Amino acid sequence: MSSKFLKLVLILFLVNSLSGEDLFLPLPQNIKHNTKKAKLGKKLFLDVRLSGDETISCATCHSLQNYGVDGLKTSFGIRGQKGSINAPTVYNSEYNFVQFWDGRAKNLHEQAKGPIVNPIEMDSSFEKVVLKLSKDNSYKKEFNEIYSDGITIENIVNAIAEFEKTLITPNSKFDKFLRKEITLSKEEAEGFKLFKSKGCIACHNGINIGGNLFQKIGIFGKFKKDENVQTHDLGRFNVTKKEYDKFYFKVPSLRNIAKTAPYFHDGSIKTLNEAVKKMAYHQLGRFLKKDEIDKIVKFLHTLTGEINETE
Ligand code: HEC
Ligand code: HEC
Repeated sequence: MSSKFLKLVLILFLVNSLSGEDLFLPLPQNIKHNTKKAKLGKKLFLDVRLSGDETISCATCHSLQNYGVDGLKTSFGIRGQKGSINAPTVYNSEYNFVQFWDGRAKNLHEQAKGPIVNPIEMDSSFEKVVLKLSKDNSYKKEFNEIYSDGITIENIVNAIAEFEKTLITPNSKFDKFLRKEITLSKEEAEGFKLFKSKGCIACHNGINIGGNLFQKIGIFGKFKKDENVQTHDLGRFNVTKKEYDKFYFKVPSLRNIAKTAPYFHDGSIKTLNEAVKKMAYHQLGRFLKKDEIDKIVKFLHTLTGEINETE
C-alpha cells in the first residue's frame, strides 16, 4: 500500500473525529487589492490582442458572467483547435494552493503566462503581445501610471493576477450558514452531513472546499480503462515524471460547482449527480443510494455564491 493511501486513511480518521464545520471557512466579502492594477487586469483579461490572431481572450474560455467557465467538455483555442482538458473556473482561484489540474503553476502570476503562448490556446508570444499593446496609447498611459518599467510581460500578468484576486463569489448559502446567519433546509443539512460522514470532506475542505491538496482519481477502482488513458489523464505525473504521481490531480474547489458543468479534468461527466456517484465509488469505494446522492447534490447547490460582473 502506498504511503499516500495511508495518509488518506489517516485524514479520513481525523476528519471523523471533528465536527466538520471547523474544516471550512466562508469567503471574505471583500478582498484587499490594488484597484488600478485590477482595472487594468480586467481590460487585459477581456482583450483579444493577447492571442496570436486576435480572436480569443481569457474570457472566451473563462466567461465572467458564466461563473468563469465555457461550459464545454474541453475548450476551443485559436483557429478552432480543440483542447484536451476541461477549463476550470477562474473564480476563487486565488485560494487554490497551485494552479492548473496538475498544479504546474505555483500562482496566478505564473499561470497567466501559460495560455498566451500555448499553441492551441492563444498561440502568441510575449514579444508580440508587448509590441501590440505598446501601440495603444491608453494602455501605455495606464501601465506607466502603475509600473516604472511600463508595458512588460511581467507587468501584464501581474495586472491580470491582481484582477483575478477580485474574482471571489461571497455570500453563498453555505457561507451564510457558516457565519451562523441562516440555517440550511432539511435536505441540504442532510446532504452536508452525508458529505462529511461518507468522507468527501477528507479531500474537499478548507476555504475553497477543495483546492488545497493533490489526490489520485481512482483510489478504489480505475477511473478509465488502461487502453483509454491519454497523456492528460496522468495529471501530476506530467510535471514530476514520478510513477507514484500518475492520476494525481489538484482536488478541485467545489465552490459554484452547480454552475460549472461538465465535470472532471476531461469534462467527461455531464451532471452533478453523476459526478457525486462517481466520486463515492472511485474515491471512497462506496455505492451511494439515489436519495443520498440527491441530498449531497442539494448541499452542493448551497455552494453557489454571488458574482458581481457586468462586462
Ligand atoms: C482556449 C481556452 C482558454 C483560454 C484562452 C484561457 N484559458 Fe485559462 N484555462 C483553460 C484550460 C483548459 C485550463 C486547464 C488547463 C490545465 O489544467 O492543464 C485553464 C486553467 C486556468 C486557470 C487555473 C485554474 C485552476 O483552478 O487551476 C486559470 C487561473 C486560468 N486558466 C486563467 C486564464 C487567464 C488569465 C487567461 C488569459 C491570459 C486564460 N486562462 C486563457 C482554458 C483557457
Ligand atoms: C480522495 C480524495 C477525494 C475524495 C474522498 C472525494 N473527492 Fe471529489 N474530487 C477529487 C479529485 C482528485 C477530483 C478531480 C478528479 C478529476 O478531475 O479527474 C475531484 C472532483 C470532484 C468533482 C468535480 C469537480 C469539477 O470541477 O469537475 C465533484 C463534484 C466532487 N469531486 C465531489 C465529491 C463528493 C461529493 C465526494 C464524496 C462523495 C468526493 N468528491 C470525494 C478528490 C476527492
